[in-house]
Amino acid sequence: MTATLIDGTAFAATVREKVAAHVARLKEVQGVTPGLAVVLVGDDPASEVYVRSKGKQTVGVGMNSYEHRLPAETSETELLDLIARLNADKDVHGILVQLPLPSHLDESLVINAIDPAKDVDGFHISNVGRLGTGQKAMVPCTPLGCLMMLRDQLGNLSGLNAVVIGRSNIVGKPMAQLLLGDSCTVTIAHSRTKDLPDVARRADILVAAVGRPNFVQGDWIKPGATVIDVGINRIPAPEKGEGKTRLVGDVDFVAAREVAGAITPVPGGVGPMTIACLLANTLTACCRAHG
Ligand code: GUN
Repeated sequence: MTATLIDGTAFAATVREKVAAHVARLKEVQGVTPGLAVVLVGDDPASEVYVRSKGKQTVGVGMNSYEHRLPAETSETELLDLIARLNADKDVHGILVQLPLPSHLDESLVINAIDPAKDVDGFHISNVGRLGTGQKAMVPCTPLGCLMMLRDQLGNLSGLNAVVIGRSNIVGKPMAQLLLGDSCTVTIAHSRTKDLPDVARRADILVAAVGRPNFVQGDWIKPGATVIDVGINRIPAPEKGEGKTRLVGDVDFVAAREVAGAITPVPGGVGPMTIACLLANTLTACCRAHG
């Protein structure tokens, strides 16, 4: 049996279409245009690529994009001053500070300076607490995208065994909270988990977010399970030519697709959903700000 491929590229396009339609209505009816401010400190090449893509897609759905590029030597006070200005700016509904920050800047101090209502990453401690206690929260984009794909694929998730491999604050922990919110029986596994293959084999839903290429093996997967691969790992690809690389996930895709019921590919699975959910979160923040 070969698994159904969950097409994140197509799904993300439908999310963006819905967001764009809602943005157009907001403009027409209330005269409001949602605005997203993205702050990039330093010149990390991967962050540059993400920020450019976020800006392009923000404009693509009819929102305003405000990019703030600061030099790597920016002081904490300068960065906090910018965040205070963005918090007070009525035209800015979402604020995203691209991570990682240069090492002299305290990430949690900076993230927690963002107005929680504008925290479209869902990283502010108040949003983390709200999600954990089942209150209305801004939800981190990657796990939100995963949840949307799971609901679309499986319908009601209630009672299913979900195993999340990875315990990061950005993906693993909020993913587990979201699955719990949908009444799954949730296990968070990680690098120290005993008998990890056996734990993984119990999963009806397996989410891999460990950051290790091809880590999850085909025989770790319960036949028919739905597999969400959050990993984006660049590995050497000598078959494409000297010095070339390719992207792979955290799951051994070739083996897994013979066992799973459905699986997200890499690239083209979770990745495109993350920015689509960022746009959806910005729209949500704007709607909440304008009652
Ligand atoms: N760096 C890599 N992924 C992310 C993300 O989702 N949000 C932010 N702010 N920075 C990132």
